[in-house]
Amino acid sequence: MQDDGALLQQERAWVEVDLDAIAHNVRQLLHLLQPGTDLMAVVKADAYGHGAVTVAQAVLAAGASWLGVATVMEGIELRQAGITAPILLLGAAQSAAEVSAIAQWHIQPTLSSAQQLKMFVEALSGEAWQTLEAAPLPIHIILETGMGRLGIPWQEATAFVAQVQTQIQALPRLKIASIYSHLATADDPDPKVMRQQQQNYDAAIANLKAQGFTPPRLHLGNSAATLLNDPSLQYNMVRAGLALYGLYPEPHLKGQAELRPALQVRARVTQVKPVAAGSGISYGHRFIAPQNMTVAVVGIGYADGVPRNLSNRLTVLYRGQRLRQLGSITMDQIMVDVSEVGEIEPGAIVTLLGQSSGSQQTNSISADDWASLLDTISWEILCGFKHRLPRINLAQQMGSINGKKPDIEGS
Ligand SMILES: Cc1ncc(COP(=O)(O)O)c(C=O)c1O
Repeated sequence: MQDDGALLQQERAWVEVDLDAIAHNVRQLLHLLQPGTDLMAVVKADAYGHGAVTVAQAVLAAGASWLGVATVMEGIELRQAGITAPILLLGAAQSAAEVSAIAQWHIQPTLSSAQQLKMFVEALSGEAWQTLEAAPLPIHIILETGMGRLGIPWQEATAFVAQVQTQIQALPRLKIASIYSHLATADDPDPKVMRQQQQNYDAAIANLKAQGFTPPRLHLGNSAATLLNDPSLQYNMVRAGLALYGLYPEPHLKGQAELRPALQVRARVTQVKPVAAGSGISYGHRFIAPQNMTVAVVGIGYADGVPRNLSNRLTVLYRGQRLRQLGSITMDQIMVDVSEVGEIEPGAIVTLLGQSSGSQQTNSISADDWASLLDTISWEILCGFKHRLPRINLAQQMGSINGKKPDIEGS
């Protein structure tokens, strides 16, 4: 296998994932949790673009005890990598085939409707399931308390749980393991809607208890709810995604934890050239050089996760200095103004997201910066980095470096 250091000498662009930062963020969140409250690390969408398997290993080593995924395939990927921690499938299973895969790979499903329950019972009553090893299959029920998405209406929780209990009687491996819900507005400085959701959830749980069923586990909070540092939102577990990756859902949540962004995106200059005044740059000539300039072509584009809507608005860092990106962002390449840079050659590394240090300054660009330029959220920016970009995992403290820190002298 090729040495990663050598690989980096050739790569046109890559994502660096700081696993130490992720471990640090896990510890920061754990610090906010009441004793007995578990941390589920939400590693869906390839761990928000950071690489699901390596992130899962890092968060578990740092003290998270559950993993959350959105699809069955995401769960299988973790199992195939040898991860044995409990995995909750947050999304809905789509078919009997997925139900079998869930059972085989010991992924814990979420039931969100009567139709789902029927599909599970039918699929697991079949012969194929009977021949599988007799491992228990914990199931989780999601209540709709005001998110307006998946779930059993909270007012119907008692009736639904009774229905589940009846239907799984003949399937002793199935056990209800948790009743949970998801918050829509935990990051809103106005807590009114969130508190109403919490009240609905609490009422549903109280009704269940009154009927003689005490759910073994309750969970409601996401990153924002965790960062509020309110024990009443923590129950037995919180499910955190964004905060693991070092970003705050909203600036007002910055007070309680010191999070470190874990992802940096870098790319190499592939060509440097003079451009005469009046020349057009890139598709549609959306930039016309106002004077003679020096332009660098950089090997990264929208197919790698750099949103095309940032065209003419993006800046990149080189030796701590901000450089303007010019014209339309293309699928695989961008152009930047290096007129003021002095010496820059093909092979030089620029930073699109993250930190770049120069002789005079340290400068950084965050996913939040891109999100505010695009009127979107940092979650979407992070999830945009696709597999085409190699992931270089940096983990000095963990002692396992599967990507050497690239020489970023020139960035
Ligand atoms: C059900 C559920 N729980 C938890 C999370 C984690 O959310 P966040 O990234 O805001 O922490 C998500 C993410 O979308 C989710 O869908």
